[in-house]
Amino acid sequence: MRTHYCNQVNKELIGREVKLCGWVNRVRHHGKVVFINLRDREGIVQVVVEEEQQELFEVATKIHNEYVLCIEGKVRSRPEGLINYEMITGEVEVVVEKLDILAKSEALPFNLDEYQEANDELRLRYRYLDLRRKEAGDKLIFRSKVVKKIRDYFDRLGFLEIETPILTKSTPEGARDFLVPSRNFPGKFYALPQSPQIFKQLLMAAGFDRYYQIVKCFRDEDLRADRQPEFTQMDVELSFVDEQEIMRIHEELLRELFAELLQVALPAQFPQMTFKEAMARYGSDKPDLRIPLELVDIADVVKNSGFAVFADAAKKPEYRVAALRLPKGATLSRKQLDGYIEYVAIFGLKGLAHVKVNERAQGIAGLQSSILKFLSEDVVENILIRTKAETGDIIFFAAGVTNIVNEALGALRVKLGHDHGLVEHGFRPLWVIDFPMFAKLENGDWTFMHHPFTAPATDNAEEVIADPAKVLARAYDLVLNGIELGGGSIRISNYSMQMAIFKVMGMSEETAKENFGHLLEAFKYGYPPEGGIAFGIDRMIMLMSGAKSIREVIAFPKTQTGMCPLVQAPSTVNAAQLKELGIKCYQKQTD
Ligand code: AMO
Ligand code: AMP
Repeated sequence: MRTHYCNQVNKELIGREVKLCGWVNRVRHHGKVVFINLRDREGIVQVVVEEEQQELFEVATKIHNEYVLCIEGKVRSRPEGLINYEMITGEVEVVVEKLDILAKSEALPFNLDEYQEANDELRLRYRYLDLRRKEAGDKLIFRSKVVKKIRDYFDRLGFLEIETPILTKSTPEGARDFLVPSRNFPGKFYALPQSPQIFKQLLMAAGFDRYYQIVKCFRDEDLRADRQPEFTQMDVELSFVDEQEIMRIHEELLRELFAELLQVALPAQFPQMTFKEAMARYGSDKPDLRIPLELVDIADVVKNSGFAVFADAAKKPEYRVAALRLPKGATLSRKQLDGYIEYVAIFGLKGLAHVKVNERAQGIAGLQSSILKFLSEDVVENILIRTKAETGDIIFFAAGVTNIVNEALGALRVKLGHDHGLVEHGFRPLWVIDFPMFAKLENGDWTFMHHPFTAPATDNAEEVIADPAKVLARAYDLVLNGIELGGGSIRISNYSMQMAIFKVMGMSEETAKENFGHLLEAFKYGYPPEGGIAFGIDRMIMLMSGAKSIREVIAFPKTQTGMCPLVQAPSTVNAAQLKELGIKCYQKQTD
């Protein structure tokens, strides 16, 4: 129907006829003229209906916001003085010669200009209206461009896009499954995939040595700003490769996307850091490198000090005593400090000692802190050297179980960075490598860190069983600005190693066969060495577009509680449907 999108109407079209279709963004009546800002997905242009066009003028006076119009008219330049340099189309306007109202609109449930005042739920309930806002719509347009470039990139490298089932059997990836009852097999359930992990591995067994897929994944987990119950992965698997090659291919993809879509040059080689170093320096396996603050261990320094909280922790193997220096932090008020103490308490840290460095040159005499009375001059001096303290700084201290100290100080580091304007501009990618293969659960059982198909760094299955804590995984995560963007690994490709992993996790051979017989069998028939990775597309678009939550880059996202206010899902189903499925609901249903 249209000849142009609104934003394409520019000076070059002056004197030409155009036909435009779109929504009335705003209408202004100025006596002898009606100005309409016509909007489509690409932009806005001003169209003018003049009094001389009597019939049209009358129609135009009855137009309201969000009416859908089709107009034909001639492009002309705006008179000097009426040029709007803030609009791409601000130098021109279209004089209407023909005008059709294709649809009328009632007043919207919220004003598109004042959308921030509308609550999230209302905006999601009318997401199709919310998406009429330029900032909202642009994110989906951007997403489409990113995905197109990803497909082009993999196509160029000889990857095949192959679809894998959505109705399938549960794959353990650490989250709860969404289940789908089966009508033909009463009492049995499909699971929606948490990822296509096993299928992509089986595609390697089939010989499709370079696979990728832009694919929906489903995980029933607690939601956060960067988590949704259904999300999209860029899922990749390759045979006959090592981890460096996989990392290189994906770095190159990111460099290309950032250069072409954002004009941002990412480093020619992304830094790689071991899990151990990341935990030691940042208290996190996804450190935000834009924040120039680091944790330092001081256990050796305080081990024999008179401050029992530190000295006791320093002597225990599963404990950590660490310091975090905030440059120029000595001016923090009591109230601010209390705020930080409360903040770390969320992570289970029992306290947060601090030392203010008022005058570095004076040694202990130039410091201010309630813990100085327990510490000798020597110990204090060593702490100051270790933390590279300078006049005007504050040093925070945490002592406790390593995981708690890491989580608490890691999060405090990020918070301090944001609170004190220390977050550098730009993008700081990082590969985190050499993850431990297993993590210990609170009940003492071992679980996997990535997923159970990840190859350990050793080929010796007995070594894995003998000392799981020591085993490193051939896994790698790509972290960008403190967010885990992707993760993958070289996979196990033989039966005995796979069984060893299941054994460490406390799974019997019988159960392993029951759950993963399909993969275990494939190992028997010529299984290639292989590995892969998956990136969260939503997170990638969120970071690239500067969105605060992945919800902004998903057309129809779910709320924090995992419901969709637009279609009101999840919903109850009727008794007949339940009966057909052989399901009886015991829980009280809420409508
Ligand atoms: P993993 O579980 O690390 O690996 O997931 C890969 C990436 O998917 C994104 N992601 C999510 N995004 C939004 N909402 C969620 N709930 C969510 N969960 C994960 C993250 C994450 O880095 N099969 C393996 C990959 C492999 O080994 O090849 C896997 O799924 O960006
Ligand atoms: P207390 O002797 O309990 O008053 O503690 C003295 C200082 O040590 C206070 O500033 C506490 O916040 C701090 N503190 C207590 N427990 C810890 C801990 N586990 N890690 C770091 N600081 C702590």
